[in-house]
Amino acid sequence: MNSAGQALIYHILTYGCQMNVRDSENIAGLLESMGYIEGQLAEADLVLLNTCSVRHSAENKVYGKLGEINRLKQQKPGLFVAFGGCMAQLPEVRARLKKMKIDLVFGTHNLHELPELIRSAREGRKQLAAVWENNGPVVEIDPGISIRPPGSSAFVNIMYGCNNFCSYCIVPYTRGRERSRMPDDIVGEAHQLAGQGYNEITLLGQNVNSYGRGLDMDIDFAGLLHRVHEVEGIERIRFTTSHPKDVSDSMINAIADLPKCCEHIHVAMQAGSNRILKLMNRGYTREHYLDVIGRLRDKIPEIAISTDIIVGFPGETDADFRDTIDMVEKVQFDSAFTFMYSVRSGTRAAQMPDQLEYESKNRRLAVLNDLQYAIAKRKNQRFTGRIMEVMVDGPSKSNQDRLSSRTRCNRIVILDGSLELVGRTVDAIIEEAKTFSLFGRLTDGYEDSCCNEHNSGLDYGKDVASDQGRNN
Ligand code: SAH
Ligand code: SF4
Ligand code: F3S
Repeated sequence: MNSAGQALIYHILTYGCQMNVRDSENIAGLLESMGYIEGQLAEADLVLLNTCSVRHSAENKVYGKLGEINRLKQQKPGLFVAFGGCMAQLPEVRARLKKMKIDLVFGTHNLHELPELIRSAREGRKQLAAVWENNGPVVEIDPGISIRPPGSSAFVNIMYGCNNFCSYCIVPYTRGRERSRMPDDIVGEAHQLAGQGYNEITLLGQNVNSYGRGLDMDIDFAGLLHRVHEVEGIERIRFTTSHPKDVSDSMINAIADLPKCCEHIHVAMQAGSNRILKLMNRGYTREHYLDVIGRLRDKIPEIAISTDIIVGFPGETDADFRDTIDMVEKVQFDSAFTFMYSVRSGTRAAQMPDQLEYESKNRRLAVLNDLQYAIAKRKNQRFTGRIMEVMVDGPSKSNQDRLSSRTRCNRIVILDGSLELVGRTVDAIIEEAKTFSLFGRLTDGYEDSCCNEHNSGLDYGKDVASDQGRNN
């Protein structure tokens, strides 16, 4: 409460991947349990940044926003500023934050103690930092307190951290070692979500298909899919992201056999050259990657495959880049998130010789994007004139008068229709196909004739159509 007896207002700014989106739902729940209510940045008493450090550009966005928040704090000295997420785990970031007007810095392993930390920081006069380098067992936050956005779809963490140490990647340093949640906790959360009216869940982890490793029980990712599949009320199951080295036949069979598992997989390729894959420490070759894609398509012929690709890794030659282009032509991805390599201090690749200049990385990115966008558009055009089963997510981000929905293969379909359809599964006839989304209209009384035309992919933001700028 403020001095006028009104509830204090919080505003959360979330950057980065779905892990952060999910953490912010927990953070919102913790703040509301303290009596805060959500509001706009300009009216906030507490602003919390949940940050990402995966690329330089992600960090820059946060520093830019801190400038704006600093100006707000000058006008409103009582504004409480909390800084959490992946950037907070990095010592060089914390050193920089020390000089700023930030009240609390908290790490990715300290979420559960946020209320306590906020109270302590309010009492103290100096910046409080609470950042564990914790790799211990998962500290569960009661999912019942989460504030999830209304709609049909919810995220469920199945594991935290990553053990892969791809040489370019900061995530193992910011999120710690891989830890799987207990299957009963995951299934319990899925039941709870079904009870709240959610009918689609996305299982989250940096490497979901190594789920179960390190748990003292006989369960793997396929086993978990089977267990989640039994939850009544959940109609669609998605998961992200899968590592190519851990795509097992049991996982492929589970996706093929379990009707609720949507026909989409996000399986990051990163590069097409064996030399670069080795330098990246990815643990597979291009031949293995093609074998994985072949096995997936054999069992699930219309599965949608999405990927992540990095251009301009240190030492990447024209020939290496041509290998990436060749793989993109061979695999024909339904969609791809493409990135320029970004130096992350503390990672092995940051020390590698032959770092490329911005211009050559940018040129390669443009060539790759031109190719991939053409493939995506052509693949989308196959759906024109077809009827597809879509689940309505909510108003479209780009046009609030229309609805945004998704096919089982995770394609966005923009439709006209009333908000009462949110959360419902309906049939839509596809009238137009663009690179990042389809446009359609509702049908009545048609049988879905094409629902094996599923493919899917990972969504780093729900509205893929608005996600074209995510490549630097
Ligand atoms: N665990 C996921 C990836 C999470 S990070 C997976 O392995 O599939 C999301 C993507 O960011 C990565 O797949 C990679 O393509 C990209 N990325 C990570 N570090 C990067 C860096 N230093 N520069 C550019 N892109 C990077
Ligand atoms: Fe990063 Fe590799 Fe782990 Fe993905 S698998 S989070 S790219 S280290
Ligand atoms: Fe970014 Fe951390 Fe996710 S670095 S991509 S928010 S795990």
